[in-house]
Amino acid sequence: MRVVGLVGSPRRGRNTATLVQKVLDGAKSQGAEVKLLYLMGISPCLACDLCKEKRSCVQDDAMQPIYALLDEAQGIVIGSPIYFDHISAQTKTFFDRLYRYIGPNMEHRFHPGVRAVIVLTWEALNPQAYEGVADWLQERLRYYLGIETVERLLAAQTGRHPVGEREDLLQRAFQAGVKLAHACREVPTAN
Ligand SMILES: Cc1cc2nc3c(=O)[nH]c(=O)nc-3n(C[C@H](O)[C@H](O)[C@H](O)COP(=O)(O)O)c2cc1C
Repeated sequence: MRVVGLVGSPRRGRNTATLVQKVLDGAKSQGAEVKLLYLMGISPCLACDLCKEKRSCVQDDAMQPIYALLDEAQGIVIGSPIYFDHISAQTKTFFDRLYRYIGPNMEHRFHPGVRAVIVLTWEALNPQAYEGVADWLQERLRYYLGIETVERLLAAQTGRHPVGEREDLLQRAFQAGVKLAHACREVPTAN
């Protein structure tokens, strides 16, 4: 069982990455093979539509190794900081490049049964401030890609209280990884 963690913050080892890594640790404790990647160096979608026919993307960039990992993953952890009230540009650019997994008639080309954990971190005090962004992300994963979300970790106040100091949150992240691994167990591998 493979679980890929994707971090849409350029800040290595900070809030978003710390939580994504904890989720991976939880999945690993249940026997998953895990890999964490930063969503850097990914070019925007060219909207050439060639992926509809070819089922692959013509752009040879940092997204190609990510496609290779996604094609073998049963679980994904998507982590983004909130930038100007939404997911970061890095995360959105990654999402646009998932267009290759949507067929011309909106059919899902991601292999079936993939499960996800969503991680969002932000600085504002209100712990519910970006529930709407999590809802948006969860629904896009489900509708366009057929990926069901098993857990969401939303961390506010990361300025005053960096997540690395919040044992309760780290525990919840670990447990989310355990839950993800269990949910993934029955997922068939690609091809
Ligand atoms: C460009 C930019 C925009 C941001 N916009 C918001 C925002 O709209 N709301 C908020 O609460 N925090 C905002 N933040 C703060 C980050 O969401 C917060 O520091 C986050 O936890 C950073 O994650 P990281 O430590 O993984 O990089 C912003 C930070 C940056 C750099």
